[in-house]
Amino acid sequence: MSILSGKRVLLGISAGIAAYKSVALVRLLIKHGADVRVVMTPASKEFVTPLTLSTLSKHPVLSEFSNTEQENPVWNNHVDLGLWADLFLIAPATANTLSKMSSGQCDNLLLATYLSAKCPTYVAPAMDLDMYQHLSTTANLEKLSSNGVTIIPAEEGELASGLVGYGRMAEPEHIVSYLSDHLLHNAPWYGKTVMITAGPTHEPIDPVRYIGNHSTGTMGYRLAEVAAQLGAEVILISGPTHLISDHPNIRTHRVITADDMMEVVKKNFQKADIAICSAAVADYKPVAASDIKLKKSDKPLELILVKNPDILAWCGEQKKKQYLIGFALETHNALTYAKAKLQNKNCDLIVLNSLRDTGAGFGTTTNQVTLIDKQLSAFPLELKDKSIVAQEICEFILKQKHD
Ligand code: CTP
Repeated sequence: MSILSGKRVLLGISAGIAAYKSVALVRLLIKHGADVRVVMTPASKEFVTPLTLSTLSKHPVLSEFSNTEQENPVWNNHVDLGLWADLFLIAPATANTLSKMSSGQCDNLLLATYLSAKCPTYVAPAMDLDMYQHLSTTANLEKLSSNGVTIIPAEEGELASGLVGYGRMAEPEHIVSYLSDHLLHNAPWYGKTVMITAGPTHEPIDPVRYIGNHSTGTMGYRLAEVAAQLGAEVILISGPTHLISDHPNIRTHRVITADDMMEVVKKNFQKADIAICSAAVADYKPVAASDIKLKKSDKPLELILVKNPDILAWCGEQKKKQYLIGFALETHNALTYAKAKLQNKNCDLIVLNSLRDTGAGFGTTTNQVTLIDKQLSAFPLELKDKSIVAQEICEFILKQKHD
């Protein structure tokens, strides 16, 4: 999964020959999971057609202030476009467009959108080498940069004029990796390590049977993805589940039993800035697993169970800098038990699931949780998809933990 996944990217295209590369750029951004909309300057339509771009982006492409072709013309709202975007990328950005952006001119929809946008703006200049080196262009780029616009440098190579030098728009692959690196380095958890336990544990009875529970690990995996999207290096310690995570920032350790999970947690906890224990760890295990399959007989089967290590409680005892989050799954007296768990296990936050709530808990794609902070204040969240719940939990942690 890419850091661009789920990001709303507004692509601005101005009138340069490099506009033909915008087609590949749209495809690549979409491949990285971005939702892409396109705004063009009127002249850029000479280089690439809106139909190609709207087909690829699956959104209408806008280039005029109003749609005069319709019987009842509608205003194309540049303010909404600017507010919709998580980031605005202008590629190619011609010398003319850069100059107008730097002086605040606003004679087309792309420029009006730039002036309205509140999101970070990136420009990928594209022009002939002498235009790129011209003092006016250099001054415009410097001014834009000091206004907070990020410049994706032009590259060296053969130009449309036949001359060779700097001025080519960066290749679409380079633009996308530049954006990804920039977003990652500016993400709020860049440089932080987040350790997450997820899924059930299986406690063997014999080689074919185990004690387990209904946890699928979905909540933990969703949390891992959100933490990675926020720039963290994630150590995901997962019990047996069919889930996989393909985000480059997530390192998954697969374990079976609570003892295995404890061992991996012990090796990684000190590295963590944030530790989230979302695993449904089996509280008990058979005192000794049989090496051979137990054969059935007419007598009742007695299993002696002994307690597993409490991983969250261990983290609570060891913690120094770590912000520690525990989960509580309750069927009754939920708030009282959850608050006690927060105090007994020395957590900074408890995420409470109540099995009484429809749509919450094991095996559902949705969840409804209440967050309980160190002051024992309770913040109920609404029933939502587990990815959204994961985002809201991480946003809550971000607000609480500032360093
Ligand atoms: N937990 C853990 N190791 C265990 C048991 C639980 O790390 N052996 C963690 C879970 O990951 C979760 C929290 O403790 O974050 C709550 O687990 P839960 O089983 O609900 O609570 P318990 O403390 O075991 O208490 P009880 O079963 O009495 O509710």
